[in-house]
Amino acid sequence: MAFTATVGNQQVSCGEDQSMLDAFLRAGVWMPNSCNQGTCGTCKLRVVDGDVDHGDSPADTLTAEEREAGLALACQATLRSDSVVETLGGAVGGGITHPLRDLTATVLSNDEIARDTRRLLLELPEPLAFHPGQYVELTVPGTQLRRQYSLANTADEDKVLELHIRSVSGGAATERWIFTSMAVGDQIPVTGPLGDFFLPAEDSDDGGPMVLIGGGTGLAPLIGLARTALSRDPGRRVLLYHGVRGVDDLYNLDQMAELTKVYPAFTFVPVLSHEAPAAESVHRAGFPTDHFIEDVDSARGWSGWLCGPPPMVEAGVKAFKRRRMAPRMIHREKFTPAT
Ligand code: FAD
Ligand code: FES
Repeated sequence: MAFTATVGNQQVSCGEDQSMLDAFLRAGVWMPNSCNQGTCGTCKLRVVDGDVDHGDSPADTLTAEEREAGLALACQATLRSDSVVETLGGAVGGGITHPLRDLTATVLSNDEIARDTRRLLLELPEPLAFHPGQYVELTVPGTQLRRQYSLANTADEDKVLELHIRSVSGGAATERWIFTSMAVGDQIPVTGPLGDFFLPAEDSDDGGPMVLIGGGTGLAPLIGLARTALSRDPGRRVLLYHGVRGVDDLYNLDQMAELTKVYPAFTFVPVLSHEAPAAESVHRAGFPTDHFIEDVDSARGWSGWLCGPPPMVEAGVKAFKRRRMAPRMIHREKFTPAT
Protein backbone atom coordinates (compact mmCIF):
# COMPACT_ATOMS: atom_id res chain seq x y z
CA MET A 1 0.00 0.00 0.00
CA ALA A 2 1.29 3.46 -0.87
CA PHE A 3 0.54 6.84 0.75
CA THR A 4 1.09 10.36 -0.52
CA ALA A 5 3.63 12.71 1.05
CA THR A 6 3.22 16.41 0.32
CA VAL A 7 5.85 19.12 0.75
CA GLY A 8 4.98 22.58 -0.54
CA ASN A 9 3.25 22.04 -3.88
CA GLN A 10 5.03 18.72 -4.54
CA GLN A 11 3.37 15.36 -3.93
CA VAL A 12 5.10 11.98 -4.05
CA SER A 13 3.92 8.42 -3.61
CA CYS A 14 5.60 6.64 -0.72
CA GLY A 15 5.62 2.82 -0.53
CA GLU A 16 4.79 1.01 2.71
CA ASP A 17 8.41 0.22 3.60
CA GLN A 18 9.95 3.18 1.82
CA SER A 19 11.46 6.04 3.81
CA MET A 20 10.07 9.48 3.05
CA LEU A 21 13.52 10.64 2.00
CA ASP A 22 13.85 7.78 -0.48
CA ALA A 23 10.43 8.57 -1.96
CA PHE A 24 11.15 12.30 -2.35
CA LEU A 25 14.63 11.86 -3.83
CA ARG A 26 13.58 9.11 -6.26
CA ALA A 27 10.89 11.50 -7.53
CA GLY A 28 13.60 14.16 -8.01
CA VAL A 29 12.17 16.32 -5.22
CA TRP A 30 14.87 17.82 -2.99
CA MET A 31 14.79 17.22 0.76
CA PRO A 32 17.73 18.11 3.02
CA ASN A 33 19.80 14.97 3.69
CA SER A 34 23.32 13.95 4.58
CA CYS A 35 24.07 10.55 6.19
CA ASN A 36 20.93 8.60 5.17
CA GLN A 37 21.46 6.43 8.27
CA GLY A 38 19.74 8.30 11.09
CA THR A 39 22.83 9.82 12.70
CA CYS A 40 23.16 13.43 11.48
CA GLY A 41 19.65 14.91 11.86
CA THR A 42 19.89 16.88 8.60
CA CYS A 43 16.68 15.32 7.26
CA LYS A 44 14.58 16.24 10.32
CA LEU A 45 11.19 17.59 9.28
CA ARG A 46 7.82 18.44 10.77
CA VAL A 47 4.81 16.24 10.06
CA VAL A 48 2.08 18.87 9.82
CA ASP A 49 -0.66 16.37 9.06
CA GLY A 50 -0.76 12.56 9.01
CA ASP A 51 0.87 9.58 10.78
CA VAL A 52 4.39 8.22 10.44
CA ASP A 53 6.25 5.20 11.77
CA HIS A 54 9.65 6.35 13.10
CA GLY A 55 11.26 2.97 12.28
CA ASP A 56 14.84 2.79 13.54
CA SER A 57 15.21 6.53 14.29
CA PRO A 58 17.85 6.67 17.06
CA ALA A 59 16.73 8.41 20.26
CA ASP A 60 19.79 10.64 20.34
CA THR A 61 19.05 11.99 16.82
CA LEU A 62 15.26 12.24 17.33
CA THR A 63 14.36 12.70 21.00
CA ALA A 64 11.07 11.64 22.61
CA GLU A 65 10.15 15.33 22.94
CA GLU A 66 10.77 15.89 19.22
CA ARG A 67 8.55 12.91 18.33
CA GLU A 68 5.83 14.35 20.60
CA ALA A 69 6.22 17.69 18.81
CA GLY A 70 5.58 16.03 15.44
CA LEU A 71 9.16 15.90 14.14
CA ALA A 72 10.53 12.94 12.16
CA LEU A 73 13.70 11.82 10.39
CA ALA A 74 12.83 11.58 6.71
CA CYS A 75 15.55 8.97 6.11
CA GLN A 76 14.06 6.59 8.72
CA ALA A 77 10.32 7.33 8.85
CA THR A 78 7.71 5.59 6.72
CA LEU A 79 4.15 6.81 6.20
CA ARG A 80 1.09 5.30 7.87
CA SER A 81 -1.34 7.70 6.15
CA ASP A 82 -1.28 10.44 3.53
CA SER A 83 0.84 13.17 5.16
CA VAL A 84 1.89 16.78 4.78
CA VAL A 85 5.42 17.68 5.89
CA GLU A 86 7.54 20.80 6.03
CA THR A 87 11.27 21.36 6.36
CA LEU A 88 12.74 23.07 9.42
CA GLY A 89 14.67 26.25 10.12
CA GLY A 90 14.34 27.77 6.68
CA ALA A 91 15.94 24.72 4.99
CA VAL A 92 14.82 24.44 1.41
CA GLY A 93 12.67 21.42 0.56
CA GLY A 94 10.55 20.64 -2.45
CA GLY A 95 12.84 21.95 -5.22
CA ILE A 96 14.02 19.86 -8.15
CA THR A 97 17.10 17.66 -7.80
CA HIS A 98 18.91 14.86 -9.61
CA PRO A 99 16.73 11.78 -8.96
CA LEU A 100 18.01 9.00 -6.73
CA ARG A 101 18.46 5.86 -8.84
CA ASP A 102 19.54 2.22 -8.64
CA LEU A 103 22.06 1.12 -11.26
CA THR A 104 24.20 -1.96 -11.75
CA ALA A 105 27.84 -1.00 -12.19
CA THR A 106 30.78 -3.02 -13.48
CA VAL A 107 34.00 -2.90 -11.47
CA LEU A 108 36.60 -1.47 -13.93
CA SER A 109 39.48 -1.36 -11.44
CA ASN A 110 40.12 -1.74 -7.74
CA ASP A 111 43.70 -0.58 -7.14
CA GLU A 112 45.73 0.16 -4.05
CA ILE A 113 46.68 3.86 -4.17
CA ALA A 114 47.99 4.39 -0.62
CA ARG A 115 48.29 2.50 2.67
CA ASP A 116 45.01 0.60 3.24
CA THR A 117 43.39 2.70 0.52
CA ARG A 118 41.80 1.66 -2.77
CA ARG A 119 40.57 3.58 -5.78
CA LEU A 120 37.45 1.92 -7.15
CA LEU A 121 36.35 2.75 -10.70
CA LEU A 122 32.77 1.69 -11.44
CA GLU A 123 31.41 1.79 -14.98
CA LEU A 124 27.69 2.56 -15.24
CA PRO A 125 25.36 1.27 -17.99
CA GLU A 126 24.12 4.86 -18.48
CA PRO A 127 25.13 8.28 -17.10
CA LEU A 128 24.16 9.21 -13.55
CA ALA A 129 23.41 12.89 -12.90
CA PHE A 130 24.83 14.14 -9.58
CA HIS A 131 26.36 17.19 -7.95
CA PRO A 132 30.14 16.91 -7.39
CA GLY A 133 30.66 16.15 -3.68
CA GLN A 134 27.65 13.85 -3.34
CA TYR A 135 27.96 10.16 -2.54
CA VAL A 136 26.60 6.77 -3.60
CA GLU A 137 25.65 3.72 -1.57
CA LEU A 138 26.95 0.22 -2.17
CA THR A 139 25.18 -2.83 -0.76
CA VAL A 140 27.42 -5.58 0.61
CA PRO A 141 26.64 -8.74 -1.44
CA GLY A 142 24.37 -11.25 0.28
CA THR A 143 23.37 -8.73 2.98
CA GLN A 144 21.15 -5.69 3.45
CA LEU A 145 24.15 -3.64 4.63
CA ARG A 146 24.48 -0.31 2.82
CA ARG A 147 27.67 1.73 2.93
CA GLN A 148 28.20 5.28 1.68
CA TYR A 149 31.16 6.33 -0.51
CA SER A 150 31.81 9.84 -1.81
CA LEU A 151 32.28 10.57 -5.49
CA ALA A 152 35.61 12.08 -6.54
CA ASN A 153 34.14 12.97 -9.95
CA THR A 154 33.08 16.21 -11.59
CA ALA A 155 29.55 16.33 -13.05
CA ASP A 156 30.66 15.53 -16.62
CA GLU A 157 32.43 12.34 -15.42
CA ASP A 158 29.07 10.61 -15.13
CA LYS A 159 29.73 7.19 -16.72
CA VAL A 160 32.67 5.98 -14.59
CA LEU A 161 32.38 6.70 -10.88
CA GLU A 162 35.56 7.10 -8.82
CA LEU A 163 35.51 6.14 -5.14
CA HIS A 164 38.38 6.26 -2.60
CA ILE A 165 37.96 3.65 0.09
CA ARG A 166 39.92 3.10 3.28
CA SER A 167 39.96 -0.31 4.90
CA VAL A 168 38.36 -0.64 8.33
CA SER A 169 39.51 -3.54 10.47
CA GLY A 170 36.84 -6.27 10.42
CA GLY A 171 34.67 -4.09 8.15
CA ALA A 172 31.85 -5.86 6.31
CA ALA A 173 32.17 -3.69 3.19
CA THR A 174 35.87 -2.92 3.22
CA GLU A 175 38.01 -5.68 4.77
CA ARG A 176 35.59 -8.51 4.00
CA TRP A 177 34.52 -7.45 0.49
CA ILE A 178 36.18 -4.55 -1.38
CA PHE A 179 39.71 -5.33 -0.14
CA THR A 180 39.44 -9.12 -0.50
CA SER A 181 36.81 -10.63 -2.78
CA MET A 182 35.69 -7.80 -5.09
CA ALA A 183 37.16 -8.43 -8.56
CA VAL A 184 37.40 -6.51 -11.82
CA GLY A 185 34.30 -7.35 -13.89
CA ASP A 186 32.02 -7.86 -10.88
CA GLN A 187 28.53 -6.41 -11.30
CA ILE A 188 27.48 -4.45 -8.24
CA PRO A 189 24.39 -2.46 -7.30
CA VAL A 190 24.96 1.29 -6.84
CA THR A 191 22.37 3.72 -5.47
CA GLY A 192 22.77 7.48 -5.72
CA PRO A 193 23.22 10.35 -5.72
CA LEU A 194 22.75 11.32 -2.06
CA GLY A 195 23.82 14.06 0.34
CA ASP A 196 23.95 17.83 0.55
CA PHE A 197 27.73 18.30 0.28
CA PHE A 198 27.84 20.27 -2.95
CA LEU A 199 28.45 23.76 -4.32
CA PRO A 200 25.65 26.26 -4.86
CA ALA A 201 24.31 26.36 -8.42
CA GLU A 202 26.65 28.30 -10.70
CA ASP A 203 24.33 31.33 -10.94
CA SER A 204 24.19 31.66 -7.14
CA ASP A 205 27.85 30.81 -6.46
CA ASP A 206 29.51 34.00 -5.15
CA GLY A 207 32.94 32.83 -6.36
CA GLY A 208 34.46 33.61 -2.95
CA PRO A 209 37.60 31.95 -1.56
CA MET A 210 37.25 28.34 -0.43
CA VAL A 211 39.06 26.21 2.10
CA LEU A 212 38.65 22.45 1.89
CA ILE A 213 39.95 20.07 4.55
CA GLY A 214 39.88 16.29 4.06
CA GLY A 215 40.96 13.56 6.45
CA GLY A 216 42.18 10.34 4.75
CA THR A 217 39.70 9.33 2.04
CA GLY A 218 37.76 12.47 2.95
CA LEU A 219 39.83 13.91 0.10
CA ALA A 220 37.53 12.22 -2.46
CA PRO A 221 34.59 14.67 -2.67
CA LEU A 222 36.91 17.67 -2.21
CA ILE A 223 38.57 16.80 -5.53
CA GLY A 224 35.26 17.04 -7.40
CA LEU A 225 34.35 20.24 -5.54
CA ALA A 226 37.72 21.94 -6.07
CA ARG A 227 37.91 21.05 -9.78
CA THR A 228 34.34 22.28 -10.33
CA ALA A 229 34.97 25.57 -8.47
CA LEU A 230 38.19 26.16 -10.42
CA SER A 231 36.59 25.42 -13.76
CA ARG A 232 33.86 27.99 -12.94
CA ASP A 233 36.49 30.60 -12.03
CA PRO A 234 40.14 29.71 -12.75
CA GLY A 235 41.35 32.62 -10.61
CA ARG A 236 39.43 31.56 -7.50
CA ARG A 237 41.38 31.16 -4.25
CA VAL A 238 41.10 27.47 -3.28
CA LEU A 239 43.07 26.15 -0.33
CA LEU A 240 43.01 22.34 0.03
CA TYR A 241 44.45 20.55 3.09
CA HIS A 242 44.83 16.77 3.16
CA GLY A 243 45.33 15.39 6.66
CA VAL A 244 46.78 11.89 6.96
CA ARG A 245 48.83 9.90 9.48
CA GLY A 246 51.99 9.51 7.37
CA VAL A 247 53.50 9.91 3.90
CA ASP A 248 52.29 6.46 2.86
CA ASP A 249 48.69 7.60 3.27
CA LEU A 250 48.97 10.41 0.72
CA TYR A 251 47.61 9.85 -2.79
CA ASN A 252 46.61 11.74 -5.97
CA LEU A 253 49.79 13.82 -5.60
CA ASP A 254 50.25 14.08 -9.38
CA GLN A 255 46.75 15.45 -9.73
CA MET A 256 47.39 17.98 -6.96
CA ALA A 257 50.65 19.06 -8.64
CA GLU A 258 48.83 19.50 -11.95
CA LEU A 259 46.08 21.61 -10.37
CA THR A 260 48.73 23.76 -8.68
CA LYS A 261 50.44 24.29 -12.03
CA VAL A 262 47.26 25.12 -13.96
CA TYR A 263 45.57 27.29 -11.30
CA PRO A 264 47.97 29.73 -9.59
CA ALA A 265 45.44 30.51 -6.82
CA PHE A 266 45.07 26.81 -5.89
CA THR A 267 47.17 25.61 -2.96
CA PHE A 268 47.52 22.00 -1.77
CA VAL A 269 48.83 21.37 1.74
CA PRO A 270 49.57 17.77 2.86
CA VAL A 271 49.67 17.46 6.66
CA LEU A 272 51.07 14.46 8.59
CA SER A 273 49.71 13.82 12.09
CA HIS A 274 51.83 10.81 13.15
CA GLU A 275 55.12 11.27 11.33
CA ALA A 276 57.77 13.98 11.28
CA PRO A 277 58.02 15.47 7.77
CA ALA A 278 61.34 14.85 6.01
CA ALA A 279 63.70 17.83 5.84
CA GLU A 280 62.86 20.16 2.95
CA SER A 281 59.65 18.28 2.11
CA VAL A 282 56.42 20.20 1.48
CA HIS A 283 54.66 18.15 4.15
CA ARG A 284 53.64 19.81 7.38
CA ALA A 285 53.33 18.21 10.83
CA GLY A 286 50.20 18.16 12.99
CA PHE A 287 46.54 18.70 12.12
CA PRO A 288 45.23 20.49 9.02
CA THR A 289 42.69 22.49 11.03
CA ASP A 290 45.53 24.01 13.12
CA HIS A 291 47.45 24.91 9.97
CA PHE A 292 44.40 26.64 8.54
CA ILE A 293 44.27 28.86 11.65
CA GLU A 294 47.95 29.71 11.20
CA ASP A 295 47.64 30.35 7.46
CA VAL A 296 44.46 32.44 7.29
CA ASP A 297 43.92 35.50 9.50
CA SER A 298 40.30 36.06 8.56
CA ALA A 299 37.89 33.74 6.73
CA ARG A 300 35.10 36.29 6.43
CA GLY A 301 33.55 35.80 2.98
CA TRP A 302 35.13 32.33 2.62
CA SER A 303 33.26 29.03 2.33
CA GLY A 304 34.57 25.99 4.20
CA TRP A 305 34.29 22.34 3.21
CA LEU A 306 35.12 19.56 5.70
CA CYS A 307 35.06 15.84 4.99
CA GLY A 308 36.27 12.77 6.87
CA PRO A 309 36.27 11.40 10.41
CA PRO A 310 33.72 13.18 12.68
CA PRO A 311 36.34 14.54 15.18
CA MET A 312 38.29 16.18 12.34
CA VAL A 313 35.11 17.70 10.95
CA GLU A 314 34.16 19.10 14.38
CA ALA A 315 37.67 20.55 14.83
CA GLY A 316 37.32 22.16 11.41
CA VAL A 317 33.99 23.81 12.29
CA LYS A 318 35.65 25.34 15.39
CA ALA A 319 38.66 26.51 13.36
CA PHE A 320 36.45 28.12 10.71
CA LYS A 321 34.31 29.91 13.30
CA ARG A 322 37.45 31.10 15.06
CA ARG A 323 38.48 32.74 11.82
CA ARG A 324 35.02 34.34 11.52
CA MET A 325 33.59 32.22 8.70
CA ALA A 326 29.80 32.61 8.58
CA PRO A 327 28.10 29.41 9.88
CA ARG A 328 25.95 29.13 6.73
CA MET A 329 29.17 28.95 4.68
CA ILE A 330 30.43 25.89 6.59
CA HIS A 331 29.70 22.59 4.83
CA ARG A 332 30.48 19.19 6.30
CA GLU A 333 30.41 15.51 5.35
CA LYS A 334 31.07 13.18 8.26
CA PHE A 335 32.19 9.62 7.56
CA THR A 336 30.03 8.29 10.38
CA PRO A 337 30.31 4.51 10.87
CA ALA A 338 27.10 2.61 10.14
CA THR A 339 24.96 1.96 13.22
P1 FAD B 1 31.71 -1.81 9.37
O1 FAD B 1 31.40 -3.25 9.22
O2 FAD B 1 30.56 -0.84 9.26
O3 FAD B 1 32.46 -1.53 10.72
C1 FAD B 1 33.33 -2.49 11.34
C2 FAD B 1 33.70 -1.97 12.72
O4 FAD B 1 34.56 -0.83 12.61
C3 FAD B 1 32.49 -1.47 13.54
O5 FAD B 1 32.76 -1.75 14.89
C4 FAD B 1 32.48 0.01 13.27
O6 FAD B 1 31.85 0.74 14.31
C5 FAD B 1 33.96 0.33 13.18
N1 FAD B 1 34.24 1.42 12.23
C6 FAD B 1 33.61 1.66 11.06
N2 FAD B 1 34.17 2.71 10.44
C7 FAD B 1 35.15 3.14 11.24
C8 FAD B 1 36.09 4.19 11.17
N3 FAD B 1 36.11 5.04 10.13
N4 FAD B 1 36.98 4.32 12.17
C9 FAD B 1 36.98 3.49 13.22
N5 FAD B 1 36.10 2.48 13.36
C10 FAD B 1 35.21 2.31 12.40
N6 FAD B 1 34.54 5.80 3.67
C11 FAD B 1 35.55 5.86 2.76
O7 FAD B 1 36.58 5.15 2.90
N7 FAD B 1 35.48 6.66 1.65
C12 FAD B 1 34.42 7.47 1.43
O8 FAD B 1 34.39 8.21 0.43
C13 FAD B 1 33.35 7.46 2.39
N8 FAD B 1 32.28 8.27 2.23
C14 FAD B 1 31.31 8.29 3.20
C15 FAD B 1 30.23 9.18 3.05
C16 FAD B 1 29.26 9.24 4.03
C17 FAD B 1 28.11 10.22 3.88
C18 FAD B 1 29.33 8.37 5.16
C19 FAD B 1 28.25 8.42 6.22
C20 FAD B 1 30.36 7.47 5.29
C21 FAD B 1 31.37 7.41 4.32
N9 FAD B 1 32.43 6.52 4.43
C22 FAD B 1 33.45 6.57 3.51
C23 FAD B 1 32.46 5.46 5.47
C24 FAD B 1 31.86 4.17 4.85
O9 FAD B 1 30.51 4.38 4.47
C25 FAD B 1 31.88 2.95 5.80
O10 FAD B 1 31.33 3.32 7.04
C26 FAD B 1 33.29 2.42 6.00
O11 FAD B 1 33.85 2.03 4.76
C27 FAD B 1 33.29 1.19 6.96
O12 FAD B 1 32.41 0.22 6.44
P2 FAD B 1 32.65 -1.33 6.74
O13 FAD B 1 31.39 -2.03 6.35
O14 FAD B 1 33.92 -1.81 6.14
O15 FAD B 1 32.83 -1.38 8.32
FE1 FES C 1 18.58 11.43 8.07
FE2 FES C 1 21.18 12.00 8.49
S1 FES C 1 19.64 11.52 9.97
S2 FES C 1 20.07 12.11 6.62
